[in-house]
Amino acid sequence: MSQRILQNGRLLPTLEDALAREFDIHPLWKEADPAAFLARHGAEFTGMVTSAVVGADGALMRSLPSLKVISSFGVGYDSIDIDTARALGIHVSNTPDVLNDCVADLAMGLLIDAARGLSAADRFVRRGDWLNAKFRLTTQVTKKRLGIVGLGRIGRAVARRAAGFEMDIRYHNRRPAEGVAHEYMASLEELARWADFLVVTAAGGAGTRHLISREVLQALGPDGFLINVARGTVVDEAALVAALRDGLIAGAGLDVFEKEPHVPPALFELDNVVLLPHIASGTHETRQAMSDLVLNNLRSYLREGRLLTPVC
Ligand code: DGY
Repeated sequence: MSQRILQNGRLLPTLEDALAREFDIHPLWKEADPAAFLARHGAEFTGMVTSAVVGADGALMRSLPSLKVISSFGVGYDSIDIDTARALGIHVSNTPDVLNDCVADLAMGLLIDAARGLSAADRFVRRGDWLNAKFRLTTQVTKKRLGIVGLGRIGRAVARRAAGFEMDIRYHNRRPAEGVAHEYMASLEELARWADFLVVTAAGGAGTRHLISREVLQALGPDGFLINVARGTVVDEAALVAALRDGLIAGAGLDVFEKEPHVPPALFELDNVVLLPHIASGTHETRQAMSDLVLNNLRSYLREGRLLTPVC
């Protein structure tokens, strides 16, 4: 029996083509009335492909009574209702590891940009301000203190890069990570107080919501920088906007926001923050590797009943 796969949300065109060549795939986003379509055809689908951005909620899973597997594009799965998937016996995979280097590269890029004012200096030159003034002095990166919030696979890749900048590295996790020489700090506020740069690489979801609170930002202090390449929800965005505006912290580099693609307009007025449109894994090489893993997870599950990179 041929397996029908539901596509929830847009994917890279090359991945959509590859999926269409190999599977009986149906893009739900093309349906004018998705609910009516699912009511008529939901029981036909045994698989789903989605992405970390679009995810899959419990209601969608329940409208697909034959669903056995979800292969998701992206490492984060906070947009997928994992509790419901478990309860319904649906297997879920993500695309870990293949993006570690790419995201860590971007984290370091954001850190250097925020500290040295690269984007702000670029705007300064383009405006013609250099003709009449000197650009402000900035903050050195080499030999500074780096606090990593969430020392998982991406956090470790950031630490390896930061070691090249001779940075002193400490981290905060729920519990100490195994096989790590860097100093563990059980208190996030203590880590923020110690650090010159706080880089957030923790997973999103209810457990980390607003972990970076006003108190943590206050502890980071007027010379400290916050870098977020994880999820916007990990940071209390209203508190961050106020901290940047009032000089509670020195600056920030943000690839993620609480309500993407909406960015708090107050941030557009500030020169001490670098704003990126969630591009940390967005290179040709990494997106290809992520696409391959989405396909391979689906193939492996449908042929052998086994996911290569299971979440549950
Ligand atoms: C991920 O892989 O989770 C990235 O953040 C893309 O959404």
